[in-house]
Amino acid sequence: MSWKSLDEKDLAGKVVLTRVDINVPVENGRVTDATRIQRIVPTVKDILAKGGKPVLLAHFDRPKGKVVPAMSLRQIVPALEKALGQKVKFAEDCIGGPAKRAVADLEPGQVLLLENTRFHPGEEQNDPAFSAALAALGDVYVNDAFSAAHRAHASTEGIARLLPSAAGRLMAAELKALDAALGNPERPVVAVVGGAKVSTKLDLLGNLVAKVDHLVIGGGMANTFLAAQGVEVGKSLAERDMAPTALEILAKAQAAGCVVHLPLDVVVAREFKAGAASETLPANACPTDAMILDAGPETVATIAKVFETCRTLIWNGPLGAFEIPPFDAATMAAAARAAELTEAGTLVSVAGGGDTVAALNAAHLADRFSYVSTAGGAFLEWMEGKELPGVAALMA
Ligand code: 3PG
Ligand code: MG
Repeated sequence: MSWKSLDEKDLAGKVVLTRVDINVPVENGRVTDATRIQRIVPTVKDILAKGGKPVLLAHFDRPKGKVVPAMSLRQIVPALEKALGQKVKFAEDCIGGPAKRAVADLEPGQVLLLENTRFHPGEEQNDPAFSAALAALGDVYVNDAFSAAHRAHASTEGIARLLPSAAGRLMAAELKALDAALGNPERPVVAVVGGAKVSTKLDLLGNLVAKVDHLVIGGGMANTFLAAQGVEVGKSLAERDMAPTALEILAKAQAAGCVVHLPLDVVVAREFKAGAASETLPANACPTDAMILDAGPETVATIAKVFETCRTLIWNGPLGAFEIPPFDAATMAAAARAAELTEAGTLVSVAGGGDTVAALNAAHLADRFSYVSTAGGAFLEWMEGKELPGVAALMA
């Protein structure tokens, strides 16, 4: 993979339209997780250091082509200023008069954020006229929003065709890490896929079994696989109608030489609440009135052994109901082992997806992985083997 890099660009005196993803969680007007904002700082600083004028393009939430005041990017300005350590100017529209005036007023060293691109229907429609209106504001386009690159929108795809373009620092780091995990990985490769449903991760499982040496299946979707094999899963979350699909995935894995690891033992409870009474049983011994909420210690030991024999790990989705302790135990223990092996230099570990990153952050393990992606949906589509339009537009 080779993409157009920021290093090759002369930015002195240029207006640099910089697509960022600052679609961060906000509660009562306050940003509750600023990770995505922190991760764009190197790109913005780099543009400033090269004498460029960064003009940030971004979406926030899903206003569907209309102005929704509660989805204004203005509320993100304080968090952005904190992360950058400087004032950030704001324009109340991302095209037209307000945007043009704000860009014209921008002095060297200053940063400008434009209002939510999704306030215009042309953004999601990838309308050429809207792309042209964005492009008219600047001289160069930099895309640092890997986590929005699965969207073929005007600010992620259309505009890249109209201006000299480059990948920002975060975009380049994401592409490098993901290529090392699944594009050109050191083998053996293990993938951990968890989460609630097989139905949302079908393409992903299908793509992975053809590419990785070991596939660890956890979370609710493991129950679907167990049930498909005729194992009693009681009241567990399971998609019984997905049984034929689950069996097909297992057959495909076998044909490809991919070893699939399902839970050997499970933690079951009668209630789904924090601290609920639980017991650990063999995976085939779930009582009919109980539900499986986590993988057990024998499963974790097996996963740890797989990690020890592998050189590369790619992780998406928790092994159990990690948001409710003690059902986070398997996810935390396996992730901790991955972190140790990463630090020992025997494993390259890459994780992504909303839940996964939340789990690793909660366990203070994110920093100890080789790379944790900022992407949710884009990470999944990339794991599915799909081309991301925002990335394709940056290829050299
Ligand atoms: C995300 O939050 O995953 C990205 O910002 C993309 O947002 P979207 O799913 O609304 O396109
Ligand atoms: Mg989202």
